Amino acid sequence: MKAAMEKLFAVQLAKIEDNDLREKVVSVWVTAARDGGWTEEQLTEIPFTLLTETHGVNLIQHTIAVTEGAIGLANAIEDTYEPPFKVHMDWLVAGGLLHDVGKLLEIEHNDGNHQKSYSGKCARHPISGAILAAKAGLPEEIINMIGCHAKEGEGRPQRVETVLIHQADFATFNPMVMLSKGLLII
Ligand SMILES: [Fe+2]
Repeated sequence: MKAAMEKLFAVQLAKIEDNDLREKVVSVWVTAARDGGWTEEQLTEIPFTLLTETHGVNLIQHTIAVTEGAIGLANAIEDTYEPPFKVHMDWLVAGGLLHDVGKLLEIEHNDGNHQKSYSGKCARHPISGAILAAKAGLPEEIINMIGCHAKEGEGRPQRVETVLIHQADFATFNPMVMLSKGLLII
């Protein structure tokens, strides 16, 4: 499973300079896959959300798109003007890769259907993902990115990396919801 994770996220993992951080990101994904009972083959079949029609976009593709989107936002800001804050790029990439790792516990597979698990009813993926990251010894800033990237973080103190991941996440999610509601102009 470790090799599979390193292959799926190879491009983004290579952008993390801190070896220990990179290893911990992989280990959290491996632990979550094991705890959620997923095989390597099943990983790319998990829909990125259960909240709307995903049009075939899986959790791995979503994770990559959100991570790259957040990196793009950070670069756009820092290449254009001097913001009164510093984006920690290693943390941003790690947080992007881990923001939805809790979905491996929140979603379960049953006769070809993906549905909310018992664990997911007890704790949504931002909470379970934050717990997984904390157990792996990841820094508090990354806990903030995972725990506060969705509605759990609304109105709460956030790292700038959390804000960028949130925006990249909803840039991929909202058009799908709007499409389902007939509100996306195409
Ligand atoms: Fe997400």
